[in-house]
Amino acid sequence: MTTYSTPATEALAEVLSGLTEVAAWQLVPSAAGDTLLVAGPATAEEGVSGAGSASATHAAASGDAAISGTDLTELPALMRLLDENALLTIARILDRTRLFRGPEPRTAAEVVNALGAVPRHAWIVRRWLRTLVDEGRLAHDPVAGGYRDLTAPDRAQHARARRTLDEARRGMGYPESMTRFFLAAADRLPLLLQDRTSLQGVLFPEGDTGTAEGNYRDSAPSRWANHAAADLIAQEAHRRENGGRPLRVLEAGAGVGGTTEAVLDAVRDARIDYLFTDVSHFFLQAARTRFGATPGLRTALFDINADPAVQGFAPGSHDVILAANVLHNARHAGRALAALRELLTPDGLLVLVESCRERYQALTSMYLLMSPQPDEEGWFTDLRAGQDRVFFSEEEWAKQLDAAGFRPLPVLPPAGHPLAALGQHVIAGRPSPGHGRPDPARVAQALARLPGAARPARVHAVDRVLPTTTSGATS
Ligand SMILES: C[S@@+](CC[C@H](N)C(=O)[O-])C[C@H]1O[C@@H](n2cnc3c(N)ncnc32)[C@H](O)[C@@H]1O
Repeated sequence: MTTYSTPATEALAEVLSGLTEVAAWQLVPSAAGDTLLVAGPATAEEGVSGAGSASATHAAASGDAAISGTDLTELPALMRLLDENALLTIARILDRTRLFRGPEPRTAAEVVNALGAVPRHAWIVRRWLRTLVDEGRLAHDPVAGGYRDLTAPDRAQHARARRTLDEARRGMGYPESMTRFFLAAADRLPLLLQDRTSLQGVLFPEGDTGTAEGNYRDSAPSRWANHAAADLIAQEAHRRENGGRPLRVLEAGAGVGGTTEAVLDAVRDARIDYLFTDVSHFFLQAARTRFGATPGLRTALFDINADPAVQGFAPGSHDVILAANVLHNARHAGRALAALRELLTPDGLLVLVESCRERYQALTSMYLLMSPQPDEEGWFTDLRAGQDRVFFSEEEWAKQLDAAGFRPLPVLPPAGHPLAALGQHVIAGRPSPGHGRPDPARVAQALARLPGAARPARVHAVDRVLPTTTSGATS
């Protein structure tokens, strides 16, 4: 399969076809310079690492211990209450546009227009419409290409649903500030969609990080995932304790430090060199105040969408990379994973925490933080391109880890665990040996004779390419 079209990519494809070690490639476009992913001949699928099962079981036990006392049987029903609440809020906002009061179908563009949503948030409105259809609250007419027959709550039903939010939040272990946040975001939705106010102001009132901390640290699914992730890292510290140097941890998108806190506690007896990073100065400052006294902890800016080398990060410089609720922000997850693998030692450990199921509360809150910037062309350029979605499923993460050159460890919580269906997962992997992976330096050298415009800014070697953008096979 080959899908190149411009003279520049044709020239690139021609050079790559002369390199016997490159069997497949993919060009990932970016305003900061394109990245070329190159893979060698296909090898047998390695599958989930059996060696990781004991450590996964240990980590799951730590997750369970962190939420002991929580009635897990109640959680799915409470999550459903939160979902229901968001659905009713969306239905009520759409009802207030009056577009659905008559029988004629309305297109997504008409709804975006009626809400006055700015182009960067239009995907959220399209997502609302599809979700209401999935939940039986709206009909989609594929022939007319529109939506009709909205089932919306009246004012009293909506007010009742808003009251149940607090009950659900308490049962899930969220602090009281979460109810205030969800309700405040819901009340401002039309203004938020119009970019006339920002969600940051609601989430971090006067710079206070308490609400976000409650979300990423205190709720039962987050507490479980943070402690399971921390346990995997503590096991890694233990495995390397005679190595003669501190455990070098890079945390990407560390934010309000919900996961950091659990990790620092779990490795408190080990020597560590912990690099707390985020794309935003705001979180680094807060982290210096909060974790500043921790020996071995430093802070730095790091953008998962930019070339680590340009940001001063050396290949093979970390034993552990942790990214909790951040990697879905990668414009191309495969490229970001390949770059992170280069930063790891060959026997290093990657630990991700990710939501693998869409929670409807995000549709009325956090999604506002995930839209592209007004000046950003395109958005996700990976499997999600053109799909108006942010999160990957568990299977999609496994495929992407494998393609980027990681041997996945068993995903946590394990299947059948009461928290598994709620969507928050710990996804870990170790660099695979990469037999036959092309040498990126040699590929870059071969491409040096191309004119500047046809030359990618960076080359990463991967085990497989998942063709979605410009890609090709040389044999
Ligand atoms: C949902 S928060 C998770 C915070 C933290 N990991 C936790 O669990 O407490 C996402 C974080 O990713 C950061 N982030 C967003 N885009 C990023 C990027 N391109 N590179 C690095 N960090 C990013 C945000 O600033 C934010 O702190």
